[in-house]
Amino acid sequence: MSHGNRFLSRRDAMKLGLAAGATLALNPQTLLAQSSTDDLLTKPIPSTGERLPLIGIGTARRYDVASTEEELEPLREVLRNFPGLGGRLIDTAPSYGNAEVVVGQLMAELGIRDQIFLATKVGEGRRGRAAGIAEMENSLARLQTDHFDLLEIHNLAGTAEMLPVLKEWKQEGKIRYLGITTTSERQYEELATFMRTEALDFIQVDYAIDNRSAEDLILPLAQERGIAVLTALPFGRGRVFDIFGDTPLPEWATELGMQTWAQFSLKFNVSHPAITAAIPGTSRPDYLFDNFSASRGVLPDAATRQRMANLIDNA
Ligand SMILES: NC(=O)c1ccc[n+]([C@@H]2O[C@H](COP(=O)([O-])OP(=O)(O)OC[C@H]3O[C@@H](n4cnc5c(N)ncnc54)[C@H](OP(=O)(O)O)[C@@H]3O)[C@@H](O)[C@H]2O)c1
Repeated sequence: MSHGNRFLSRRDAMKLGLAAGATLALNPQTLLAQSSTDDLLTKPIPSTGERLPLIGIGTARRYDVASTEEELEPLREVLRNFPGLGGRLIDTAPSYGNAEVVVGQLMAELGIRDQIFLATKVGEGRRGRAAGIAEMENSLARLQTDHFDLLEIHNLAGTAEMLPVLKEWKQEGKIRYLGITTTSERQYEELATFMRTEALDFIQVDYAIDNRSAEDLILPLAQERGIAVLTALPFGRGRVFDIFGDTPLPEWATELGMQTWAQFSLKFNVSHPAITAAIPGTSRPDYLFDNFSASRGVLPDAATRQRMANLIDNA
């Protein structure tokens, strides 16, 4: 199945006034002009009440490019359009190859750093405090910034060593929020221990419509402890598209404003009451407009969420 053609349905096209049968050529400017931030959905970060739009951008793999103009152009178009749509959250990591450098370069070029809620991670704490600090300093340079909006300990690497450092940096204003990530169910118990005992602003965990393990322990605990949740891998690295394939969306879903399986998957994701925002891998402008549409309109209620989950469980 081609993922790329799924961002505009016929109904989208009609809404945009395109003639039926006309080529649905990507025109970000037109789409941006038609977009409105009036119905933008946001959720609060529990530790401060600051609100974030429900859909951010993940930069693993696809932002790890060698910085040729051909590779950079679609990424630049994504980041150029993102703030205009009302978007803020970009998630990256030093372990995503060249991604931090690319994000830093494009933010500087576009002059958008102050509009972005910039999240990165530290993993070198596994080698000790000094190595972790060196990596954080390097991330500041690579991202061309003097602070991180969010810094998370990557996959619980050196958590005991690094949490005190993150707290110091937060005191000094170099980090606004701190947290911990994992995308491995085997680490959920360990993550839960830190969630119970530490004052975390955020966690990041894997969660997708076909991967709901976090619902058992992690998501209820986040709600109880007032910790914001970002969801990594909201499409299971594209797995949900393979499962849904070319099946048309059910009418009840389109009536609720979901036009594509991407929007369906993301609306399921961010409608969980514990989840603050999802960070789908978004490396093309058409993905951006598609994915960010899930930040608008209405969210499914509990009964609809169950219906959505049943659909993929029975696919
Ligand atoms: N904390 C951690 O340890 C950790 C681990 C993994 C990921 N993450 C975070 O989670 C983010 C998301 O992960 P991910 O990018 O690996 O997986 P993902 O978001 O679950 O899926 C990305 C896949 O979906 C496709 N896609 C995206 N938008 C689409 C759309 N609208 N229509 C059709 N296909 C679409 C992409 O296509 P293309 O192949 O064409 O790009 C890509 O194959 C990462 O970027 C990272 O920020 C964190």
